[in-house]
Amino acid sequence: MVLSCFTCNTAQHQQRPLQPLMLLLLAALLSNIHCYRAAVLAPNINACNAPLNLPSAEKVFHCCAPVPSYEPQLFRPSAGSAGAAVRIRRPSHLVTEDYAAKLARAYSLMKELPAEDPRSFTQQANVHCAYCNAVYNQSGSSQRFQAHLSWLFFPFHRWYLYFHERILAKLLGDDTFALSFWNYDHHNGTSIPWFYSSTSYPYSILSNANRDAPHVLPNATAAVDLVVAPYERPRDAQLKENDNTMYRVMIRDAQTPEEFFGWPVRQGEDAKTYSGAGTVELNPHNNIHRWVGNKSSVGWKDMGTFYTAANDPLFYAHHAELDRLWEIWKTIPEHLEYEDEDYLNAEFLFYNEDAEMVRVKAGDASNTTLLGYVYEDVAMPWMEATPERRSSGPATLTDANKMCEVGEWFVETPCSIVVDRDPTVTKNSPWLHEHLVLTMQYDTSDLELLLYLNYPSANVTTDTGCEEYLFSMTLTRYVLMYQDMVAEAFAGNKTQRIDMSRRLHAVGLMEETSVVITLVPRVSPSPSPAGRVAFISASMEYTVPYQRSDTSSPSSVI
Ligand code: C2O
Repeated sequence: MVLSCFTCNTAQHQQRPLQPLMLLLLAALLSNIHCYRAAVLAPNINACNAPLNLPSAEKVFHCCAPVPSYEPQLFRPSAGSAGAAVRIRRPSHLVTEDYAAKLARAYSLMKELPAEDPRSFTQQANVHCAYCNAVYNQSGSSQRFQAHLSWLFFPFHRWYLYFHERILAKLLGDDTFALSFWNYDHHNGTSIPWFYSSTSYPYSILSNANRDAPHVLPNATAAVDLVVAPYERPRDAQLKENDNTMYRVMIRDAQTPEEFFGWPVRQGEDAKTYSGAGTVELNPHNNIHRWVGNKSSVGWKDMGTFYTAANDPLFYAHHAELDRLWEIWKTIPEHLEYEDEDYLNAEFLFYNEDAEMVRVKAGDASNTTLLGYVYEDVAMPWMEATPERRSSGPATLTDANKMCEVGEWFVETPCSIVVDRDPTVTKNSPWLHEHLVLTMQYDTSDLELLLYLNYPSANVTTDTGCEEYLFSMTLTRYVLMYQDMVAEAFAGNKTQRIDMSRRLHAVGLMEETSVVITLVPRVSPSPSPAGRVAFISASMEYTVPYQRSDTSSPSSVI
């Protein structure tokens, strides 16, 4: 294998055939390199490191999977490969008690497996730590493999749940068994599904002590948009904001693959560099993790931080919902998935239901029917939550509008900035996208900054169901616990790029030579320490959008 791979990769560079002795020598040198995957982003299972980004108080531990003695084979789904039955994933709040009891039995069986079995609950949870606290190097690179913050987010988690579900089904001896999804985008599904928080037998196996106590209550309303905590709204207002948020992340702000899936990450690159998370990864994904986690533990464990998140059985129902959102996004006209070879061929390694390690490709995750499951249809009220336009014409600033001063800390009062732009650039080259590049300084434990365009009266009570709402910039200590962000959180700058193109059109500002952006801080009320933030700089930049090679036609711009 190594030999043929080496000769194949180097064939075009060789002037003369290699001598047999030389080949043997090189083969020996290369014996640890999986070079048949060298052009593809894939984890190197042999390069297992301690998890990155653990809080300093946390003891060092390892969460690498056992290394098999064989070369993992490629598993490609095809009709029938996932068992005969099509499995239906149902909304958790609609399942029967019998289903809940069966799920509980499956997890009991999983928790009874010996710890060294890669199908055991501990090792299933470790998969998340491994891919999310980046324990593996990328194949052929010393760069770590990270399954978040990029286009890997959706396919990685789909495969992860696929094998998890197949293992549970095998333990139950029931090929038709499917996970259910926590349907928090539906108004009836916003609390933690009852069987995940019941203290009675047999359901208690699905419960988890490390959760936020008020959010475990049966009438709690999950917040898909809030980053800071505790920060609560009345239920009706929260449902409305949930709908607004779902509409934005699935439709308004998720029209291209890079917006929805996240940015590309390729061999040798660090996903984190680009903050390349897609819309749904930010909200509701991150928010629901944070909403569930125990606020008095470091990192808001278990759900609030990568390395412990999958210790909570609720993790899998949360991710089934996100996986379903991918399916729904695809059904919306003009939503196209990545066709980039580096996406399609990116690889992950998982243990299957027979405890064999297999390789899978991101591109093979696309079709759930081939994977043997579908989602039950449920109503989606947020599809109707189209934003309204509240401004007419460019905003005029008055003395009542506080302007942000460079370097001046602010905590609670919103302030506005005026950003210059050149309307002729996009008039002459309509395919260019216009990005706001905003740098803020912050010194905070928990703060998010809501940005509004052409809306200088916006404040913390302003809802986000409007065309003028731009983005929420997260400036918190615990964003799924990246240690560099933690360090940054106490005296750092953060630069955010925000694609303004569709917003400028929607608010009718394409002809303007400047626009008003209003920065609205939302901080945790006490007892959390208050955060503060200062404006540093803002400008507009123009970029050619990803996946667009033909720049001659203006048609596909926005
Ligand atoms: Cu891998 Cu919800 O994160």
